Amino acid sequence: MPRDLAVGIHDLSFATGQLVLTHETLAARNGTELGKYHVGIGQRSMSVPAADEDIVTMGAVAAAPILARHGADRIRTVVFATESSVDQAKAAGIHVHSLLSMPSATRVVELKQACYGGTAALQFAIGLVHRDPSQQVLVIASDVSKYELDQPGEATQGAAAVAMLISADPALVRIEETSGVFTADIMDFWRPNYLTTALVDGKESVSAYLQAMDGAWKDYTEQGGRAFDEFAAFCYHQPFTKMAHKAHRALLESCGREVDEAEVVRAVGQTTAYNEEIGNSYTASVYLGLAALLDNADDLTGQAIGLLSYGSGSVAEFFAGVPVPGYRAHLRSEQHREAIARRRDIGYADYRERHQQAFPVDGGDHPAPRETTGPYRLAGLFGHKRVYEPR
Ligand code: HMG
Repeated sequence: MPRDLAVGIHDLSFATGQLVLTHETLAARNGTELGKYHVGIGQRSMSVPAADEDIVTMGAVAAAPILARHGADRIRTVVFATESSVDQAKAAGIHVHSLLSMPSATRVVELKQACYGGTAALQFAIGLVHRDPSQQVLVIASDVSKYELDQPGEATQGAAAVAMLISADPALVRIEETSGVFTADIMDFWRPNYLTTALVDGKESVSAYLQAMDGAWKDYTEQGGRAFDEFAAFCYHQPFTKMAHKAHRALLESCGREVDEAEVVRAVGQTTAYNEEIGNSYTASVYLGLAALLDNADDLTGQAIGLLSYGSGSVAEFFAGVPVPGYRAHLRSEQHREAIARRRDIGYADYRERHQQAFPVDGGDHPAPRETTGPYRLAGLFGHKRVYEPR
């Protein structure tokens, strides 16, 4: 296989929950100064899934336009990354495969390592395309992030799915082969199987993130990666968007640079627009950052973008992507802005009620309320089986 074969992101599309809670509402009701949310953590609103939406429906909504544009004939693998899985055995991607009527000659699998799972899926997909460049891989990263009410993590919740088509000769972004990786066994954030909300040591998780980033960057350098000055912008995993600023300051320090706030804003400022409005979408977050950059920045053709993926627990990876000539003609900027703009604002009482709701686990028939206006919905839980349908 030629080592210089260009492989990367051929198409990228995201979807988010249909409901929204603003931080203005949250702050007014829990007595927090709004500046802490808007400036301190850099969040303005959080997406909330409708009662008949989940990681599967968001994944299908994100992937459908990709299949409409490119067809499914060359896709032989679907990798679904999530940490808010709906089943311990069956891959959520099989429901998406079915909703989108994909060919049976497909392998479908689910991947997990906290927020890093989306990047693992991307890297594994690139490996498959290198093995057979005639094939494409559909990567879906989809998550609903949920913390306990009235805890610091609550303000960082969100929901979104990113779908990416990985292929040879990509139309959007070529992913370079050099990668820096880092793993450390740490309990900064986790969710035991019996809980629906994540547990987190907030401050510890921020230092674990920065430590992992430093480790991944050092490994990237040792592997012969690009020099810091070669990057036009940096997309960091954004559990809250101010984390991207913290990460870039730490990277500057690690590279022996002076921390200049204008330089930090220049490097990360155009990557945060979607995550500020959506909240933490775990596996999808760093790719929402990439989408925001591609959709909003001036022409980046041929310029290196640094990507830093972090998943608590913890694993980090630093790698580079380079937008290819003509990429702007293939973006879905309108669709992305529209997905955010059309969300329905829910009040505080409604939000809290939804937060505490779950399907009964008695094995009975529990239809979901008809709520989403999207093309796919969760019909409900019937005899312990999740059933999905076109709306
Ligand atoms: P907190 O205790 O609510 O907030 O927790 P704080 O007191 O640390 O304040 C946050 C910032 O707001 C501070 O700035 C304050 O100064 C500032 P900083 O010191 O950070 O620069 N502030 C204000 N600014 C302007 N006007 C004001 C004002 N008041 C305060 N009036 C924390 C914050 C992030 C810990 C919390 O939200 C949390 O626990 N979040 C969940 C965990 C998390 O997101 N961790 C991030 C790293 S781990 C990760 O990324 C992985 C993850 O995505 C999961 C996965 O991998 O699966 C989470």
